[in-house]
Amino acid sequence: MRGFGFALMVLWLTGCTGETGDAAAPGNTMAIGEDVYNKFCFSCHAAGIAGAPMVGDAQAWSVRAAKGNELLLLSTVEGMPPGMPPMGLCMACTDEDLTAAIEYMVTASQ
Ligand code: HEC
Repeated sequence: MRGFGFALMVLWLTGCTGETGDAAAPGNTMAIGEDVYNKFCFSCHAAGIAGAPMVGDAQAWSVRAAKGNELLLLSTVEGMPPGMPPMGLCMACTDEDLTAAIEYMVTASQ
């Protein structure tokens, strides 16, 4: 039985990689970003609390986006006292999660 399960898993894995491949990746990042945003960043960035750049405010975000993704990630990880908390309060987030959330906010604000 164990051998059978393993064979099924190999089939399933190989079945997945070939076809959808790269096409699925960008949509995935947006889904992760939206999820993180809705759980952690939303509380400040939806309404512009404490001077947070509001999602949907193209001008506010174009100034931020001009810094480049690396600097945006850095200020998100370290925070920007006093308003922006380190990691945007998502302590379990990886760099990838935070990058996805930033991308989501920037994209939603264009
Ligand atoms: C407690 C409120 C709060 C939460 C929660 C929050 N932010 Fe912020 N954020 C701010 C404020 C305020 C600023 C503006 C800081 C400034 O310009 O001094 C900011 C700025 C930013 C910037 C611009 C950084 C830059 O270099 O200009 C990014 C990117 C950002 N936040 C991402 C996030 C992400 C991603 C999350 C969720 C994981 C998040 N924030 C959660 C308040 C918050």
